Amino acid sequence: MNKTQGVLKLWETYLKFTSQPGVISFASARPSNQAYQISFQRIKKIIKRLIKIKKDSLFDYSPPEGIDSFRKAIANFHSWSKPAISYKNIIVTSGGQQAIDIACRTFLQPKDRIILQNANYIGIQQSIKNRKAKIINICASIEKTSFSSLEKMIKKNKPKLFYIIPDNANPTGETLSLQKRKEIAILAKKYNFLILEDQTYKNLTFKNNPQLISFKKFCPQNTIIVNTISKIIVPGLRIGWLATPSKFFENLLTQKKSSDIFTSTFSQEIISEFIKDQKSFQNHLENIQCHYENKLSILLNSLNKYMPKGFFWNKPRGGFLLWIKGPKNFNSKKFFIKALKNKVSFMPGFVFNYQNPQYDSFRLSVSNVKEGEIIEGIKRLVKSLII
Ligand SMILES: Cc1ncc(COP(=O)(O)O)c(C=O)c1O
Repeated sequence: MNKTQGVLKLWETYLKFTSQPGVISFASARPSNQAYQISFQRIKKIIKRLIKIKKDSLFDYSPPEGIDSFRKAIANFHSWSKPAISYKNIIVTSGGQQAIDIACRTFLQPKDRIILQNANYIGIQQSIKNRKAKIINICASIEKTSFSSLEKMIKKNKPKLFYIIPDNANPTGETLSLQKRKEIAILAKKYNFLILEDQTYKNLTFKNNPQLISFKKFCPQNTIIVNTISKIIVPGLRIGWLATPSKFFENLLTQKKSSDIFTSTFSQEIISEFIKDQKSFQNHLENIQCHYENKLSILLNSLNKYMPKGFFWNKPRGGFLLWIKGPKNFNSKKFFIKALKNKVSFMPGFVFNYQNPQYDSFRLSVSNVKEGEIIEGIKRLVKSLII
């Protein structure tokens, strides 16, 4: 088993532990049952209607880049959720993970370098490993890394890609400031690397927090966008997409074709119906944003009330994830074992690291905890702390 397989296995093992009966789980980043049910009820109706109208064509082959009407619906979604994108530059993929994988296969050759924040979405690791490319790790958060340190790192390593989750990131819940986005865009143009902007959690930004501008606005020719419906509608239809400058379109499409020929026609038609009416989709997003905002607010209040001194966290602008950093010698691995005995769980920070394991940190997700269980969950966590 290589290091990446080991990391993925570790993550799966932890997730399995956390789904035992009676455990209040702050571990999973699956959309919440409530948000999931809202989507499911609409999808059921859409399927009934589609089967009547489109009949067996729903199960036919479709173009590798995606069905035009669906690509137009995505482009329309981007035009009001920003940034605007031409539908001709969109490639529909089987979830966000395939979008990331296709980008890695297109842009990374053996020994090429890709910059990543250390605490990161672990699904990208295997894609990088498969390309035999090298990860250049930002040990602290991207936000906290100064312009000059970033420039030094980029000058030295000459990366091909810089992977960034700028909004409500997994696992840290952080959002990259506008200033940092501008700085990275300047560097991307100066040193000619591509930014792989993962917008998986962007549309979960809460209503009263203005959405921050995409890299696409600052350096359109250096930005490849990855997006997915997994956290805002449902993960099981496996719909994601890439939005790329036209010059990369054909190369990305070649990789898509060799991977699975095309993305499920059935899923594309369903989601096309789901998102094509702006007003109802906007309503849907606001409902789930509100749902997560309520849950996060209960979480933050209970943390403020019950957590002892020495633990730090930021208030997320959206999404359902929160990252907590403990005191210097705090060990989230031991904490996890004790927490499980007390019937509460979370994700220890080091499972999100490729290098330099962060044993002093952990991730809480409110997506799959019932609102009424959050306070009890935090009390159990506090009881399990070893400091
Ligand atoms: C940041 C990030 N990007 C991409 C993905 C993959 O999404 P999908 O389920 O659409 O493949 C995830 C899934 O958790 C994620 O957290």
